[in-house]
Amino acid sequence: MTNSQERLQKVIAQSGVTSRRKAEKLIEEGKVKVNGQVAKILGTKVNQDDKIEVEGIPLEKEEPVYFVLYKPRGVISSVKDDKDRKVVTDFLPEVEQRIFPIGRLDYDTSGLLLLTNDGDFANLLMHPSYQIDKVYVAKTKGIPRTEDIQQLKKGVEVDGDKLKAAHVKILSTDSKKNTAIVQLILHQGKNRQVRRMLEAINFPIDKLKRERYGFLTLNGLSPGDSRELTPHEVKQLRSLAKKMS
Ligand code: URA
Repeated sequence: MTNSQERLQKVIAQSGVTSRRKAEKLIEEGKVKVNGQVAKILGTKVNQDDKIEVEGIPLEKEEPVYFVLYKPRGVISSVKDDKDRKVVTDFLPEVEQRIFPIGRLDYDTSGLLLLTNDGDFANLLMHPSYQIDKVYVAKTKGIPRTEDIQQLKKGVEVDGDKLKAAHVKILSTDSKKNTAIVQLILHQGKNRQVRRMLEAINFPIDKLKRERYGFLTLNGLSPGDSRELTPHEVKQLRSLAKKMS
């Protein structure tokens, strides 16, 4: 549940008590109370502080959990896949909470991915006005010139999206192989943003990794490893997002 308002039937369904449909039926039958009052109207909005009872039983709130994962390449940023490919939750310890990734990394992108069951936290971090640094390192085919770097910082228009990098730096080049290692710091979080930006200026990406998210790094983790965030890190991320707004 998020601190923003959510529909009552959604909150009940998300707690795992019953399906959304059944929750709607229970509401209409007057079997659900919010803060001691029967709530018979579908779509009644509730927030995290509201006390909800279903047939006299208080709704249990899931304990929030927060993980950082070093996502390997070749893994879907999802909790399940129709084609039975590996998904990011396959790399986390078994927990009862229903965890989901905060945003996504492409199938072929490796690196730092946060996962949680806390929708409020996820919304906060993904909000476009919260400009948390996301640091990527890309191996490009071709070696970008100074004017290409400038272009990435000025922004490129791709499919109606203005895609911009806050900082871009060439870390190394290999003139024999005609490749470069480029670091990009983004504040935006558009779909396939780094790949689309570099493709737009004719430097397709060979490899892409997210190395940092705000102050969080992959230090101590190998691909496929995960760890729980400390309560302090969660607090820091919350206040970082708010400061950036
Ligand atoms: N940009 C991309 O192109 N891909 C990712 O996975 C993340 C950022």
